[in-house]
Amino acid sequence: MSRFTVAIDGPAAAGKGTISKAVAAHFGFAHLDTGLLYRAVGAKVLAGSDPVQAAKALTPEDLEGELRTPEVAQAASRVAVLPDVRAALFEFQRSFAARDGGAVLDGRDIGTVICPDADVKLFVTASPEIRAERRYLELSNKGIEVTQKDVLADVIARDKRDSERAEAPLKPAEDAVIIDTSELSIADAVANAVAAIAACR
Ligand code: CDP
Repeated sequence: MSRFTVAIDGPAAAGKGTISKAVAAHFGFAHLDTGLLYRAVGAKVLAGSDPVQAAKALTPEDLEGELRTPEVAQAASRVAVLPDVRAALFEFQRSFAARDGGAVLDGRDIGTVICPDADVKLFVTASPEIRAERRYLELSNKGIEVTQKDVLADVIARDKRDSERAEAPLKPAEDAVIIDTSELSIADAVANAVAAIAACR
């Protein structure tokens, strides 16, 4: 089977991960959560490493462990503004996208920078309040103690840093299909994404 790339971008906690996993399972494609790469670099920096060295030396083991905490999310978005960090992670993402059998990559710059040639580009979004509410439930269910107010502030701060940076800012590609999940159930959001991808196959 040949290559087929699906790029899924969007702001923090918009549902990219859930949608990406579901469409990858539906079509039998491999999935890469590129946010995890930045989170792993952010975690290394919190532990005292230099960000660029950490990005260059990243190993699969670094992607294991608890990276989905608010502290690591903020550290990720701080290292993500650094062009040398982004450059160090570029080739791995490009070759993942080019693998045979189809690939789904989700992040912030997949449709704009990593895979401007993707077969399908989706931009998944929702209102900040709804995204914060979903992330609050996700973190609380994991036993991570947070307040709804802090989660909203975290989401807004990250979106601002991610959108305003000079290198690979968060923005929809011109040819992206926008899916606003504010009023959608998970099943409906996934169905919309599957339909958009199926239309391009
Ligand atoms: O899951 P959530 O949407 O909260 O965040 P994530 O996808 O795990 O990404 C964490 C951070 O990594 C983001 O806030 C971005 O600063 C950065 N990131 C990026 O710059 N480019 C990507 N392709 C993916 C993530």
